[in-house]
Amino acid sequence: MAGYQHTLMLHVLVAVVGIGPLAALAVLALSKTERGLVAHVGKQLSRWASASMGLMLLTGIYLLYVTGWGYLQAAWFWVAFVLYLALEPLQRVIIKRASRDDEKTQAASRPLGWVLLVSLIVIVYLMYARP
Ligand code: HEM
Repeated sequence: MAGYQHTLMLHVLVAVVGIGPLAALAVLALSKTERGLVAHVGKQLSRWASASMGLMLLTGIYLLYVTGWGYLQAAWFWVAFVLYLALEPLQRVIIKRASRDDEKTQAASRPLGWVLLVSLIVIVYLMYARP
């Protein structure tokens, strides 16, 4: 199953290189960095991450196909998939809040950094361990 091995390698490679910027956005959001800077850098990171999310989906669907769609029966897959779907809106809300003028909304972007970071960790754990 050469196609499977190569796709799995691509999936993991994109997870590290592509999803890494999402982790960077999460760390930036929960830091004490000035919010304007978080919004500015966050936008760059987010562009890269969004493209990678598309690749994660494509390679992920191919992995499901070559494994006979069996993972669709597994609870871990659906938990990871729902978290995956939440990543895009989550990063958008973080950047939007960080770009706002009022300090209260800006500060509200901070706890979302934790939500993003924990979601990423849980996804990678579930995909790797397949409990
Ligand atoms: C943030 C998004 C994602 C991350 C970080 C991620 C990461 C990973 C990692 C680290 C593995 C383990 C590879 C190994 O065993 O060495 C994996 C496996 C897998 N992923 Fe993902 N993934 C993501 C999204 C998706 C999506 C959206 C799908 C499906 C639509 C998907 C389907 C799969 C499948 C089926 C496997 C198991 C392949 C196998 O070994 O049989 N992933 N993923």
